[in-house]
Amino acid sequence: MSETDSAKNPYPWRMDDLVSLCARRGFAFPSSEIYGGINGFWDYGPLGVELKNNLKVLWWQRVVRERDDVEGLDSAIICHPRTWEASGHVEHFSDPMVDCRACKKRFRADQLDDAGPCPAREGTSEHDFTDVRRFNLMLKTFIGASEDAAAVAYLRAETCQSIFTDFRRVKDTSRQKIPFGIAQIGKAFRNEINPRNFTFRSREFEQAELEFFIHPGERERWFAHWLEERKRFHRELGFHAGRLRVRPHTSQELAHYANAAADIEFLFPFGWQEIEGVHDRGDWDLRRHTEYSGKDLSVTDEETKERFTPMVIETSVGIDRTALALLVNGYEEQKLPDGETRTLLRLHPAISPIKVAVLPLSKKLGEPAQRLARELRRRYSTFYDESGNIGRRYRRQDEVGTPFCVTYDFESGTDGKVTVRERDAMTQERVSLEGVPAYLQDRLEVVL
Ligand code: GAP
Repeated sequence: MSETDSAKNPYPWRMDDLVSLCARRGFAFPSSEIYGGINGFWDYGPLGVELKNNLKVLWWQRVVRERDDVEGLDSAIICHPRTWEASGHVEHFSDPMVDCRACKKRFRADQLDDAGPCPAREGTSEHDFTDVRRFNLMLKTFIGASEDAAAVAYLRAETCQSIFTDFRRVKDTSRQKIPFGIAQIGKAFRNEINPRNFTFRSREFEQAELEFFIHPGERERWFAHWLEERKRFHRELGFHAGRLRVRPHTSQELAHYANAAADIEFLFPFGWQEIEGVHDRGDWDLRRHTEYSGKDLSVTDEETKERFTPMVIETSVGIDRTALALLVNGYEEQKLPDGETRTLLRLHPAISPIKVAVLPLSKKLGEPAQRLARELRRRYSTFYDESGNIGRRYRRQDEVGTPFCVTYDFESGTDGKVTVRERDAMTQERVSLEGVPAYLQDRLEVVL
């Protein structure tokens, strides 16, 4: 489905409202903003980096830490250029593009419906397109002082290729046997022709990828296992059931080496879009790297003594896309009975950038409230705010998804209690001061 496909938009707000909230509150905004931004590159501010880190920690927990058959990796962004010849990226990783001779803009040839009118042609609003050409999406750089071809390298277009080139080293050092996986989180770069839809299609983004190496006879079983695991992960994040779906690839969509593939898609305001891919990549990658490096990457089954090249089941999720999907999923403009509107981000507490805000009713109560904030900060990301009216302070926390606000009031000094307010239901409860950490622990440290 293209990004213009109009599945019925279930959101009664405009994407621009969310984009402006993200900039205003420091989730994400254009990179190099003071120079007018740079198309396809985004910076994550104080709240955005917390949100993304929470997501990555949760992924790492589920995919690496909780399993004894997955190892982690943090490889260099720049790999040996032969890597990208072996992977097929140098030859095939391209999109069809056309240029408009009049306005000089570049478009993806498969997305011309979105091109809009040409601003530069007199008497017609139609673009003057060139023929379709292939455009390689890998970002090039040069290593060393000279800019000659010998020094060309690429910023990785996906994080997984080093997993394949490091396969033997990681297997041997971790003493893992097939089946086992290698996982990594990191930046990937693609020179997208048309970056758009906020962070959805960027030129620099983060992926969390798992390559799970298996015996050729077990492809169906492990594909089903990982698809189920990954669906569970997204459900745990709190996506509305009707906004998440799995779309198996048709046989025409499958890469020639792939046995099966499915996308996990989220319903964005701009249509159903992939946030994660689960792929059976067969033995394509290990075979190609064996061929190009001359190093044997096959293994021996210790029991049967069979020699084989492992097959690979891959799960590949975009951190930025999932973060954007979580923001879309949680964003709400709620009409309150008093006629006011409150903006709300219903984020799962595990993902919320701020877990708790401590709000003294008056600046005069600052000292004991600060003491409480200091204590909570040792455990949770805690925000302290003593300025402005309490209603407005609650609203500021609601719109960044803070699940709990703790208000220290004029009674707190005598009855030893504070009011804890919950974000979604706006319920308020009196809790003893010393009971606050346990109260939050019960609600924030739930096993998802
Ligand atoms: N190793 C397999 C691979 O890279 P992919 O479907 O090209 O597969 C996987 O990418 C995920 O990476 C996507 O599901 C998406 O979430 C994310 N992704 C890909 N291109 C992106 C872009 N230009 N901007 C943001 N995220 C992107």
